[in-house]
Amino acid sequence: MGPFRRSTLSRQFAAPLIAVAVVAGCGGTAKESKSAADRGANLVESYGCRSCHSNSAGGVGPDWARLAGSRVTLANGRTTVANREYLVRAILDPDADVVAGYSSGVMADAVGGRITRKDASAIVAYLETLER
Ligand code: HEC
Repeated sequence: MGPFRRSTLSRQFAAPLIAVAVVAGCGGTAKESKSAADRGANLVESYGCRSCHSNSAGGVGPDWARLAGSRVTLANGRTTVANREYLVRAILDPDADVVAGYSSGVMADAVGGRITRKDASAIVAYLETLER
């Protein structure tokens, strides 16, 4: 009976903890999205994104100024809007959409598959602060 008792107890403690984590992760308020953006600003440094991207002049990759919400032309000739969904996908799976004038594989080799969805979402919150 010992092990069963213990697992029941830990489940009792785990449930409220998970509830707190879910609420904290939902974001939504201006304060929370600012802290996500701050985290994103640090993440782009620690992931080394800056070796290819700047907020102003072009580098190996497209610059990030006013990228969020803008219209992007892709290598396949389509245009798309750089909304949250596009930006998260561009970070998680760089070759899913390739920006016109740039090569596939370059970002994918450097960071493809290395970034968690949570970190990508914080990075996008940061990119959204560069809108204007
Ligand atoms: C080795 C160079 C390199 C690194 C490192 C790199 N990127 Fe990129 N990135 C590129 C290139 C090249 C493109 C354009 C081709 C494409 O769309 O995949 C690109 C495209 C993007 C786009 C789409 C831009 C647009 O104009 O639509 C975003 C967003 C982006 N990168 C974010 C990041 C983030 C965030 C990191 C760090 C986690 C990162 N990149 C690291 C080279 C890089």
